[in-house]
Amino acid sequence: MNITVIGTGYVGLVSGVCFAELGNRVICVDKDSGKIDTLNAGGIPIYEPGLKEMATANRLAGKLSFTTDLSGAVRQSDIIILAVGTPPLPSGEANLAYIDQAAIEIADAMNGYKIVAVKSTVPVGTNERLATLMRARTNYRFDSISLPEFLREGSAIQDTLHPDRIVIGADSQSAADTMTLLHKPLTHQIVVTDIRSAEMIKYASNAFLATKISFINEIANICEKVGADVTQVAEGMGYDRRIGPSFLNAGIGYGGSCFPKDTRALIQIAGHVDYEFKLLRSVVEVNQDQRFNVIRKLETIFEGELRGKTVAIWGLAFKPNTDDVRDSPAIEIIQHLVDNGVKVRAYDPVAMSNFQALFGKARVTWCENPLDTAQDADALCLLTEWDEFSKIDLGRLQTVLKRPILIDGRNVFNEENLLGTEFVYYSVGRPSMN
Ligand code: UGA
Repeated sequence: MNITVIGTGYVGLVSGVCFAELGNRVICVDKDSGKIDTLNAGGIPIYEPGLKEMATANRLAGKLSFTTDLSGAVRQSDIIILAVGTPPLPSGEANLAYIDQAAIEIADAMNGYKIVAVKSTVPVGTNERLATLMRARTNYRFDSISLPEFLREGSAIQDTLHPDRIVIGADSQSAADTMTLLHKPLTHQIVVTDIRSAEMIKYASNAFLATKISFINEIANICEKVGADVTQVAEGMGYDRRIGPSFLNAGIGYGGSCFPKDTRALIQIAGHVDYEFKLLRSVVEVNQDQRFNVIRKLETIFEGELRGKTVAIWGLAFKPNTDDVRDSPAIEIIQHLVDNGVKVRAYDPVAMSNFQALFGKARVTWCENPLDTAQDADALCLLTEWDEFSKIDLGRLQTVLKRPILIDGRNVFNEENLLGTEFVYYSVGRPSMN
């Protein structure tokens, strides 16, 4: 099939590359000519394992191209997929300006029947809004489809090529059939719903996953007080198929560009129809507080006196295998430490420059590697569970720290790793060791 994907952010780029990989002819469009130049030169503007290789192979095979020319791309395609950003407005609501703009430009470029599918996460009713906008500008027939995306950063290709399910929200049987055909090679689990339900499935799924995380984080906080181990509790819960084992890793809370934005947006969506989503409000509140779990431990260790201490930070990305630092718990943790007179030394294998762009370069000592970061620090906090950290020789680490204090915000290490060391070790929801 001939497909245009509008927006070369995470979702657009990965989808475009994967649709090309499946044998379709894909044109990826972005307004940002710098991004398009990078992509045409074989570069990838984001860090995502395997993406560069797959993009290059498909580009060289003539199945994938990149352009700023939206109209030209639309005219050559039967299916248009919108994957433009819907960043939050100050109120928490999704900003639909890019969707509206794209709808107008697609309508003006129409030269025949097309399917217009929205992959961006958008409030219920947005597909109808898009259709209304387009209908006012074109007489050509089109079908609007809701095509929510469930990929995770860091495993985006795997998630796209082997999804648990594909959701297609349509009000036309023939358009639903075409989209089913397009996705058939990926999974047999294709759920066709009405458009509004598909839009809702995306928010409900992210909100539910966020709820699981905040739930296990609260269980972890109680475990710390009653002397239980949250990893054992989660394992014991997870074997129950009604609960499931995933998204029960306690830590310093969720971050990234999706959960924080989508939970707030769903609270807003509910508010617009006079419904107060009390449970989700608490999920957000618990998550906000959970990042201070690490700070509270530092305060206990240093008896309330953080000023003048040196703290090493391992990990700045909101999760491993990504350079994304949007809403990363590390931001507020480091901000709090710096504001309280702590000397912070920080390191991340790939997210350092993105973090510096957001946080500023001053006020933190940026380090080259994990051991250098720990040099002469009074304590070390692990905030992102990069593989590199779990492989560190703890015996060696102990000798470079001023005090062998390790606060593991992601429960990476265990008793066995610490055997024979003098570490005072704190994690989340597990008994401390010293
Ligand atoms: C999330 C969803 O998992 C995807 O299905 C969805 O498509 C995507 O949002 C989106 O809406 O675009 P993503 O934000 O890339 O994907 O990352 P996740 O792997 O879901 O992790 C989100 C956050 O939750 C991370 O900060 C991670 O550290 C945290 N997390 C995750 C936990 O604290 N505990 C867990 O058990 C799992």
